[in-house]
Amino acid sequence: MKILVIHGPNLNLLGKRETGIYGPDSLDDLNGRILLLSSELGMDAEVLQSNSEGAIVDAIQAGAYDLLIINPAAYTHTSIAIRDAIAAVAKPAIEVHISNIYKREEFRKHSYVSGVATGQISGLGAEGYLLAVRAAKQILSK
Ligand code: DQA
Repeated sequence: MKILVIHGPNLNLLGKRETGIYGPDSLDDLNGRILLLSSELGMDAEVLQSNSEGAIVDAIQAGAYDLLIINPAAYTHTSIAIRDAIAAVAKPAIEVHISNIYKREEFRKHSYVSGVATGQISGLGAEGYLLAVRAAKQILSK
């Protein structure tokens, strides 16, 4: 069982960026927790952060995983290319947002990705990624 976790643009700044919204943990802290939990659950995990839409599409297409966990960040609200890549590979995908995108600006309320995702976790902070890892285990054990 292999999961790929993709963090989209600006998430490399976690812990420094708008900490009132995104929390104090750095991306390295978060990735450490994701990798630890994945291994405790007996899954291999790979983590990737990119600020580039094309690099994210390439990673989704490369398909070296059984389930995708993705926080597309701002591309959530703009990227038909990321949506189409997720649809094309046809593997389970869990969309994660640290903040509750439905409680913020109007432009954040629409996600191009949710229509092709297995499910979405929004507003539970960094913990949302760990819930997604647990859900991944369940989905892949079926
Ligand atoms: C985000 C929400 C997006 O609207 C925003 O552009 C991000 C992060 C979140 O995790 O809450 O960069 O995806």
